Amino acid sequence: MTQVPSTAAAATPAAARPVVLAARSVFRFRAVDGQQVPIVRDVSFDLHQGEFAAIMGPSGSGKSTLLHVLAGLDRPSAGQVLLAGQDLAQGNEEHRAAIRRQHLGFVFQFFHLLPDLTVEENVTLPLRILGQSPRRHRARVDSLLGLLGVAKLRDRLPSALSGGEMQRVSIARALVTQPPLLLADEPTGNLSSKAGEEVVALLRSVRDQLGTAVLLVTHNPRDAAAGDRVLFLHDGALRGSAELTGGPFGVADVFRRLQELGI
Ligand SMILES: Nc1ncnc2c1ncn2[C@@H]1O[C@H](COP(=O)(O)OP(=O)(O)OP(=O)(O)O)[C@@H](O)[C@H]1O
Ligand SMILES: [Mg+2]
Repeated sequence: MTQVPSTAAAATPAAARPVVLAARSVFRFRAVDGQQVPIVRDVSFDLHQGEFAAIMGPSGSGKSTLLHVLAGLDRPSAGQVLLAGQDLAQGNEEHRAAIRRQHLGFVFQFFHLLPDLTVEENVTLPLRILGQSPRRHRARVDSLLGLLGVAKLRDRLPSALSGGEMQRVSIARALVTQPPLLLADEPTGNLSSKAGEEVVALLRSVRDQLGTAVLLVTHNPRDAAAGDRVLFLHDGALRGSAELTGGPFGVADVFRRLQELGI
C-alpha cells in the first residue's frame, strides 16, 4: 500500500481517509479458574490512514490482549478485525501471517531484538523474511535509520544500546516493510521518562513523515496526549474517546477525562 505524505494526510480530515484497521464488536474470552471470562468486551472502532490514536487504560484493563487480537497475533473469540478491509480470522495461519507482514508493524515493550544481530541486521530482518535483499532497499533503510536517530549505531549489537536506542531500533524494524499501520504496546514502559518522551515524539514524526497510522497502547497520560485521539479502555470495554486534533489538549486534559469516565 502506498503511504500518504504528511501534507496530503494533513489536508484531508482523518475520518475521510481510508480505514486501515477496523474492530467490529471484538470480544476475547479467557479461561480463569475454569470460567470463560471476557477480557475484551465488544470493542468497535476505526483507525484511518495516517491517524495517531492512543488506547489508555489501567493495568489489567485488557490493552495488550486487545492489541494482540488487533494485530492478528491472537484471534477474537467473537467479532471481526479488518486490516485494510481483510478479515484476519479468515484463512490459515500462513495467510494471516502474510496479511500481518504486509499491513502492520508491531513494537513491544521489551524490544525483542535478536541479540546476535547488529542494529542494521535486526532492522532489515523483516525484508529477508520476505525474501527481499536489504541491499536493494539500501536508500530507504538508511533514511529510516536516520529518521529514528540510530544511523550511527548500525553496526552495534543490541547489548551495546540504551533502552531508548533499542526501542528506536525496534520501531525502525517494524517500519522497514513500509506497513501502513504501526501498533505499539507500551513502547515507553521500560524506558526512563526522557527516553520515553523521545520515543513518543519519534512516533509522531513517523506518522508525519511517512503517513503511517499509529495505534499506541499506554497507561501513561503523557504518552496518550501525543495522539490525535485517545480511546479509554476499562475492564475490557471502550468507555469513550477524546479527539485531540485541533486544540491544545495536554496531559491534564487526559487526566480530567479519565476522572470524568471514572477510570
Ligand atoms: N493467558 C491469560 N489467561 C488468563 N487471563 C489472562 C491471560 N492473559 C491476560 N489475562 C488477564 O486479562 C486481563 C487483561 O490483561 P492484559 O495483559 O491485556 O492487560 P493490560 O491492560 O495490558 O495490563 P498492563 O497495563 O499491566 O500491561 C488481566 O486481568 C490478566 O490477568
Ligand atoms: Mg499490557
